[in-house]
Amino acid sequence: MNFELSEEHLAVQQAARDFAQTELLPGVIERDEHQKFPTEQIKKMGELGFMAMMVDPKWGGGGMDTISYVLAMEEISKIDASASVCMSVNNSLVCWGIETFGTEEQKERYLRPLATGQAIGAFCLSEPEAGSDATSQQTTAFDQGDHYLLNGTKNWITNGNSASYYLVIAQTDVEKGYKGINAFIVDKAWEGVVVGKKEDKLGIRGSDTHSIMFQDVKVPKENRIGEDGFGFKFAMKVLSGGRIGIAAQALGIASGAYELSIKYSKERKAFGKEIMHHQAIAFKLADMATEIEASRMLCLKAAWLKDQHLNYDRASAMAKLFASDTAMKTTVEAVQVHGGYGFVKEYHVERLMRDAKITQIYEGTSEIQRVVISRDVLK
Ligand code: CAA
Repeated sequence: MNFELSEEHLAVQQAARDFAQTELLPGVIERDEHQKFPTEQIKKMGELGFMAMMVDPKWGGGGMDTISYVLAMEEISKIDASASVCMSVNNSLVCWGIETFGTEEQKERYLRPLATGQAIGAFCLSEPEAGSDATSQQTTAFDQGDHYLLNGTKNWITNGNSASYYLVIAQTDVEKGYKGINAFIVDKAWEGVVVGKKEDKLGIRGSDTHSIMFQDVKVPKENRIGEDGFGFKFAMKVLSGGRIGIAAQALGIASGAYELSIKYSKERKAFGKEIMHHQAIAFKLADMATEIEASRMLCLKAAWLKDQHLNYDRASAMAKLFASDTAMKTTVEAVQVHGGYGFVKEYHVERLMRDAKITQIYEGTSEIQRVVISRDVLK
C-alpha cells in the first residue's frame, strides 16, 4: 500500500492551492457579506478545467481521476466554500451524471459546454416536502406524446440562477412510486422555467441558492436520462459520487480552519509565551490534525474505490459523515483558538464555521449517511 501522491496529483493540488490563494482569497469576505456569486472566479475555474475535472477530454473535460478531484476540492474549499460547492455540483452531480448515463446527443449538446466552462449546471431534486425523503416527489412530468409536461417547485437549488442547465427529477407515473420517477435535462431558457427567490443563508453565502419553478415546461422526449423509470436510481447513483465531493469540501473547510489556527497560535502570545506552548491550545491542534487526517483518508479511499470502478456507496457516505462532523468541530475549535479575533470577519474562521454547517445537511444529512451506512453494514 502506497500513501504517497503521484507527481501528477501533487501538481493538481498545487495548481488548485495557487488558484485559491491568488483568485479566490481576494474578496472572499466581501462576497460572503454581500452574498455575491463568484462569477469571474468560476469562469476562470472553468477555463482551467476545475469544473469538469473527471470528464473525458473528448467532451472537453480534464480526464483526471477522482483522487485529483478530491485534492483540488480540498484546496479550493480551504479558501472559498461558496466556489467549491458550485464546482462540486457541476463536476460530480451534473457532468458525471450526463457523461455516465446520457446519450451521445445529450453529451454533445449539454456536457460539452458544461465541461469547457461555457455553462454551469444545477441538480434539482429537493422539494419543499422532499428533502431527505427523495422518493416523495411532487414535481410531475407527464408524457404528452413527443414531450413531457413538467410542473412543480424545487427548493434550495445550488447554482439556481447561474446555471444554464438543470438536471430535474420528477414523477412521471404517480402509481409506480419511485419506479415512476425520471430525470430530465432542462434548459433554463425554456418557457415556463422561473427562477424563484434567492435564499439568505447562514453560510456559503457567495453561492447561488434559489427555488426554481417549472410551469408547463415542455421537455423533449430525448432529454430524459436513461430508460423510463430510471430517475430515482440515477439520483441515488449521482448523489453517491457527489458525497465524495462534499466530503472533500468539508475536509477543505476543516483544514483551512486548522492551518489558520496553527499560524495564529504561533504568533499570538499570552501569559509570556506563544499560545501554541499552552497545552490547552496544543491539544486542540492535535485533535484537529488527527480528525482531519482521518477525514482525508476516508475521502481518498472513497475516491480510489470510484476510480477502480468498485462500489463506493458506503465509503462515500462514511467520508461525508465523518468529514462534515470534523469540519463543524474543527471550525468551532478554530474560533476558540482565535479567541475574540475568531469572532470577527477578517480572521476567516467565523466564516468557515458558518460554511461548515451545510456540509452536515446537503447531499444527504448526517442522518441519511447513517441510513446508507447502516443498511450496508446490516445487509
Ligand atoms: N445506487 C443504485 N441504486 C440505489 C442506490 C444507489 N446508491 N440507493 C438506492 N438505490 C435503489 C434501491 O436499490 C432501490 O431499488 P430496488 O427496489 O430495485 O432494489 C431503490 O433505489 C429505492 O431505494 P430505497 O428503498 O433505499 O429508497 P428509500 O426511500 O429508503 O431512500 C435514501 C433511500 C438513502 C434515504 C434516499 O432517499 C436518499 O439518499 N435521500 C437523501 C437525498 C439527498 O441526498 N438529497 C440531497 C439533495 S441534492 C443536493 O443537496 C445538491 C446540492 O445542493 C449541493
